[in-house]
Amino acid sequence: MKEAVIKKAIAMRSRSLAPFSNYSVGAAVETESGKIIGGCNVESSSFSLTCCAERVALYSAVADGHTSFKSMAIATYNSGMPCGSCRQVIWELCSDIPIHICNEQECVKTISSKSLLPDAFDKSKLL
Ligand code: THU
Repeated sequence: MKEAVIKKAIAMRSRSLAPFSNYSVGAAVETESGKIIGGCNVESSSFSLTCCAERVALYSAVADGHTSFKSMAIATYNSGMPCGSCRQVIWELCSDIPIHICNEQECVKTISSKSLLPDAFDKSKLL
């Protein structure tokens, strides 16, 4: 449900561990069964080990036994868009789903994951 996934993504910003960038990101994914699972960005002093909120949410959902997803929401103070790496992972795990882009209070726009990664490279190229 749209409101629930948005609310969870906004709330997850408070769990963000971002002492280096101070850029708090919250994310949430809605599973096919209707469960909402959140994630936040977790930074490392070895910067490249940082994990984005979107991937924390999706990998947590997979670890919780979910493999099919209906929607996702991402929240930052300035309604930032997902990075390229997250676009790839979202496409591979979710296919074409709506992504709600939010600020600290609300959804500012909804965009499809397919449009975020045109001509995606994925498993269909490997078979
Ligand atoms: N970040 C995310 O969590 N998701 C994105 O899609 C973009 C970037 C995080 C990584 C890092 O902790 C901070 O935002 C600044 O890049």
